[in-house]
Amino acid sequence: MTLWLIVPAAGRGSRMQADRPKQYLPLHGRSVLARTLARLHQVFPEAALRLCLDPDDAYFDPDDVPFSEWQRVEGGSERVDSVRRALSTLAGKAADDDWVLVHDAARPCVRREDLAALSQALEHEAIGALLAAPVADTMKRADARGRVSHTEPRDGLWHALTPQAFRYDLLRQALDAALATGTAVTDEASAIEAMGLSPLLVPGGRDNLKITRPEDLILAARILSLQSE
Ligand code: C5P
Repeated sequence: MTLWLIVPAAGRGSRMQADRPKQYLPLHGRSVLARTLARLHQVFPEAALRLCLDPDDAYFDPDDVPFSEWQRVEGGSERVDSVRRALSTLAGKAADDDWVLVHDAARPCVRREDLAALSQALEHEAIGALLAAPVADTMKRADARGRVSHTEPRDGLWHALTPQAFRYDLLRQALDAALATGTAVTDEASAIEAMGLSPLLVPGGRDNLKITRPEDLILAARILSLQSE
């Protein structure tokens, strides 16, 4: 059984206001993308990687890919399009029940033990699972005027993180269905949920942040210093 790894890294990262896409900003002497791939490789060295890159990417360095089995895939206009393109390269190669793990290139701080916990959870799982962290702040629902409409009960609310792992055939069907019905898909789990299924939440660290804004890079550098290499 092959473990497939999809890393969407085709975003332009305009919210970073940097001179290059955020996955290529330096983090402890290497690019964010190189750090993310190295972290994944430490826990899943045998996985087969599909790396989604912008067709006009001027920064990618193949030496940053530690996987022996990998393929570059042209990214799409949205994250979900990039993931769908990567999945399409698995046709005829992946078995229906192979696991596909999708992990954002912009999350270099995912802990090795969280990756291991996700992998372990899959051993007893039929549908799939995602790393997630319980919400710590009080959550407000806004009305159209930007005023508080009400406070959402925080109990049972989670931040969806990545990796998210689903069976190949189920994920393919779910993303196809979401496209056909116009369902908004900001992560893989939301497409699975739209099919009436309930992915498993695997508790993961809040330090698995997605680098989005300039301050996130500073935080990520600090987090990496605190995590043992
Ligand atoms: O933009 P956002 O932070 O949500 O992107 C999450 C991940 O998806 C990033 O690693 C980014 O490079 C990737 N992405 C992609 N293709 C896109 C947009 C984002 O692979 N069209």
